[in-house]
Amino acid sequence: PHRQNTTVKLGSDKVVDTFKTENIDGKAVYCRCWKSAKFPYCDGAHNKYNKETGDNLGPLIIAKE
Ligand code: FES
Repeated sequence: PHRQNTTVKLGSDKVVDTFKTENIDGKAVYCRCWKSAKFPYCDGAHNKYNKETGDNLGPLIIAKE
């Protein structure tokens, strides 16, 4: 089996992050590639990962209406 998460909270059985919508200020961009140095936020690391692997991963963006 292949391990996707190689950097984030490796000592935890499961990585869970909670987002409260009152905190939203413009938009929140969440990492789904597990490569961000600012996890759970996206820092653009998916671009390098996609280029290296041919994958097409990208963030979840939560935006104010
Ligand atoms: Fe992981 Fe952007 S850095 S989705």
